[in-house]
Amino acid sequence: MRVGVFGAGYVGLVTGTCFAEMGNDVVIGDVDEQRIAALGRGRIPIYEPGLEEILQRNLEMGRLRFTVDSRDVVSSAEILFVAVGTPAGEDGSADLTHVLAVAREIARHADGPRIVVNKSTVPVGTGRKVREVLAESSPHAFQVVSNPEFLKEGSAVEDFMKPDRVVVGSDGDSAREIMRRLYAPFIRTGNPICFMDVESAEMTKYAANAMLATRITFMNEIANLCERVGANVDEVRIGIGSDRRIGPAFLFPGAGFGGSCFPKDVRALERLADEVGYEFPIMRAVHAVNEAQKRVLGEKVRTRFGDDLTGRRFAVWGVAFKARTDDIREAPALVVVDDLLSAGAEVAVFDPEAMDNARRVLGDRVVYAGSAHEALTGADALVVVTEWNEFRFPDFERIRKELKSPVVFDGRNLYDPRTMSELGFEYFSIGRPSWRAGAARSGPTVAAGLAGEQG
Ligand SMILES: NC(=O)c1ccc[n+]([C@@H]2O[C@H](COP(=O)([O-])OP(=O)(O)OC[C@H]3O[C@@H](n4cnc5c(N)ncnc54)[C@H](O)[C@@H]3O)[C@@H](O)[C@H]2O)c1
Repeated sequence: MRVGVFGAGYVGLVTGTCFAEMGNDVVIGDVDEQRIAALGRGRIPIYEPGLEEILQRNLEMGRLRFTVDSRDVVSSAEILFVAVGTPAGEDGSADLTHVLAVAREIARHADGPRIVVNKSTVPVGTGRKVREVLAESSPHAFQVVSNPEFLKEGSAVEDFMKPDRVVVGSDGDSAREIMRRLYAPFIRTGNPICFMDVESAEMTKYAANAMLATRITFMNEIANLCERVGANVDEVRIGIGSDRRIGPAFLFPGAGFGGSCFPKDVRALERLADEVGYEFPIMRAVHAVNEAQKRVLGEKVRTRFGDDLTGRRFAVWGVAFKARTDDIREAPALVVVDDLLSAGAEVAVFDPEAMDNARRVLGDRVVYAGSAHEALTGADALVVVTEWNEFRFPDFERIRKELKSPVVFDGRNLYDPRTMSELGFEYFSIGRPSWRAGAARSGPTVAAGLAGEQG
């Protein structure tokens, strides 16, 4: 099939490249000239494991190309995917500027009927708006389909190639059939393609992300409570996750969720509910609790070292909002860094993939270390914010020597509290009892109490 994709970001690039890999002719368009030029040379502007290799192969095979010319995209394809950004507007609602701009471009350049598939995450009713824009400005017939994307950054190619399900919202049989054919190679193992109306498909995406964000937030609250009552969230997590009604995924507490999706989608759902006069207290709570959770690490640092951190230096490991991505949008690390800087501290950051993005956002306010260990030199403590594999089994002996004091704040519960204590660290994590350095035999102490004693 001849496929056009608008947007060469995380979603558009993966979508277009994977469709090309299955033998379709794909053209991807973006307004960012630099990005398109680099892609044309086979260089991907984001970190996404496995993507560059497939992209280069399909470029070489002539099944994939890139352009800044929207006319080229529209005239080369029978089916057009919209995968542009839908960031949060000032009031939290999804900003549809880019989606509607693409609809106008399609209407302007189409020389016949097209299927327009919206892959961006958009509020219920956007399909109708897109249909109106197309009808206003073009005499041709368009079918508008909603096909929300569920890929995760860091495993985007695998998620796209083997989706748990494909959701297709459509009002027309022929569009359904084309979507069924296009996706057939991806769901050969029997995972479902769920056909529904456009509004339900749009809602499905928000419901999925809001559910996951709520689950994380719930566990963060349980973790905070565990700290105060002397329970261990790791054990609670296993205890509840083995219940088949609950399941083990997405139960890991941490320093709040970030990224380009959950925070904005929670807010957009909150706004969508507002607009139709429906109170959605859970969404408000998820949003508020998550903002507070991003401050938990900074609070732990201040409880340990005092409110005035002037003259102190901290090493922050991880800026990306999660491992295996360079995306730092709404990353908890940015809040942690801000909190430390506002209290007067110096901060040295290291991230295996997100240093360029970090530089763009943090500028000269922090020191950029060339390696995880370099960040530790002269630091009073290490603060781990992202769960990169390379942070999971570090050389603790070396860390203890490099840090001014052996103190570790772990926002991802990467290390075992008892082992850290045996290694001589003061170790603070999320929702688990803290262990005094060298006090393994006398057992854990409730963090809230311990913090005061050590402060
Ligand atoms: N990133 C994810 O993990 C993920 C997962 C599922 C769904 N989504 C949703 O997919 C959408 C895209 O997300 P993303 O992370 O890929 O965004 P992104 O910011 O990485 O990429 C968006 C791209 O669209 C381009 N663009 C903007 N206006 C354009 C126009 N008029 N014509 C052509 N290109 C244009 C931008 O230059 C940019 O390269 C969003 O709605 C997002 O919520 C994202």
